[in-house]
Amino acid sequence: MTQQKKKGLPTIFELVNVTKSFPGVLALDNVSLRIKKGEILAILGENGAGKSTLMKIISGLYQPTSGEIRINEEWFRDTSSESRNLVTTKILNPREGMKLGTGMVYQHFQLVEPFTVVENITLGKEFTYNFPISSRGGNKFSSILMNNKLAIKEIKELSEKFGLPLNPNSIVEDLSVGLKQRVEILKQLYRDAELLILDEPTAVLTPSEVVELFKTMNALKKTGKSIIFISHKLKEPLAIADRIVVMRKGAMVGEILPKDATEEVLAEMVVGRKVLQKLDRESFKSKNIVLDVQNLSVYDPISESLAVNNISFKIHKHQIVGIAGVQGNGQTELANALVGLRKTESGSIFFNKQDGVVLDLINKSTLDTLNSGVAYIPEDRTTQGLILDFQITENTWLGFHNAYKVNENSGKMKEETSSFIKWLENTKARLLLPIKKMDKLANSIVDQFEVMTVSIYSRVKNLSGGNQQKVLLGREFAKQPELIIASQPTRGVDIGVMEKVHQELINRRADGAGILLISSDLDEVLKLSDYILVLFDGKIAGHGNIDELTLPQISQLMTTGREVEEIKKEVTT
Ligand SMILES: Nc1ncnc2c1ncn2[C@@H]1O[C@H](COP(=O)(O)OP(=O)(O)O)[C@@H](O)[C@H]1O
Ligand SMILES: [Mg+2]
Repeated sequence: MTQQKKKGLPTIFELVNVTKSFPGVLALDNVSLRIKKGEILAILGENGAGKSTLMKIISGLYQPTSGEIRINEEWFRDTSSESRNLVTTKILNPREGMKLGTGMVYQHFQLVEPFTVVENITLGKEFTYNFPISSRGGNKFSSILMNNKLAIKEIKELSEKFGLPLNPNSIVEDLSVGLKQRVEILKQLYRDAELLILDEPTAVLTPSEVVELFKTMNALKKTGKSIIFISHKLKEPLAIADRIVVMRKGAMVGEILPKDATEEVLAEMVVGRKVLQKLDRESFKSKNIVLDVQNLSVYDPISESLAVNNISFKIHKHQIVGIAGVQGNGQTELANALVGLRKTESGSIFFNKQDGVVLDLINKSTLDTLNSGVAYIPEDRTTQGLILDFQITENTWLGFHNAYKVNENSGKMKEETSSFIKWLENTKARLLLPIKKMDKLANSIVDQFEVMTVSIYSRVKNLSGGNQQKVLLGREFAKQPELIIASQPTRGVDIGVMEKVHQELINRRADGAGILLISSDLDEVLKLSDYILVLFDGKIAGHGNIDELTLPQISQLMTTGREVEEIKKEVTT
């Protein structure tokens, strides 16, 4: 026995050759996995790899088509147990899973928004006094019946123990996303979960909330709880996991310890081929200014304050200017103001075209701005960038039906010069869609961007998020833009697609475009940008060339709007 002890922690849960098929899809293909007591196991994999399906099998929501689940029956009753006996089990539903000790925090929260924190946490597991329901019944009465005091006490203890501060009486709909996630985690702990499953928990969190979550995960691990942590960001498992397993196309393709792994190694395991982590980028030093923004302010009627507060910056030809910042510091309003989707309060926006024409974008409509050589990648592709019910061909033609005509030879866009021909084209284009040209453009975009689709006539809503993004980028870049406003260009896409998007942005930079990159992914901003602006509370808190700013400096500016030195000075005086 002592020898076994030395081998490390006991396995508490095991999946053996588990297969799960849905009509037409093999979601899990012969997957085997062991989960040990008190470990943080990270599962990495692209969208559709089968991670969530596997978790639903562990939690009892799905039954495997074939294969076995084995559990160590003692681990959830006696957390100090060293038992190594695994027993074949069936987990017929989540309630049974819960009884065994599995607790799942879903990608999409399962909370009752108008209820309080304590009501959500105790839902279905309320302490009640055994009063017969009287004629006074009704909703209000049930909260008198429920022994909330006891629940609140227990919840407070759990919050403190695991570093999850929360007010039990807050209404859930008033909470930030990060706090809602805390409620979900507490709910599982309240149900004595010993194996916690966190399905892409960091996708919705700010960088500082991620740090808090990781602290909580470590605190949970210290008390012997096991955690399965799903992510598709490579850095996170390296930072927090004890062990990393990788899934691809429904199969388990590898296992590695963080000490043996690097981001490059993980990327290759996830994608199944070498992924360029470093982009080859020429250095450019152009004096030509593409975009000149001066003293721009945007008023936000909801908060009754300036969402963008008197900011000025320039973007040069061949330059990527990255905006770093925690979401909600004016990024969205800035992007919208630049393309005319939002009224500006004051300031100027000048777009210097390569042919010498200077356009004042403040006074232009969105359509005119976009038709003047500006590509716009909106942060929400599904509502602002694409029409989901339309086919790929129709989506890639959006915007071109007005002022552009396809140059037959290159398949790319060219502005017509003769106003008569332009009129003719426009009229024709409006009356009759030029199907052949549309198909040609769609085909070239599908080829160039490697859009995975059955056909160019597929509806965009049937594509995965990553492939939708490629359609959008393909259309915007087909304009041969001189200025690109890219807002969260890789949100929710896989590593493979991300690499593609990054490479395309670098290519457009080489072509001479000026690019504004807005991203809440700081790694992305650091990787692509030539120049960085840190946005905090609608103002530029700091800026500089990529090689002048350090990471701690940027993080500090992002979270406080100030340099460390400034704060130190204030504290000491
Ligand atoms: N309920 C379902 N019905 C049909 N297909 C499903 C269902 N759930 C998942 N799938 C399919 O199974 C595969 C794996 O999906 P999922 O487990 O959600 O992947 P991941 O969480 O790794 O992104 C995908 O092809 C997905 O479309
Ligand atoms: Mg998933």
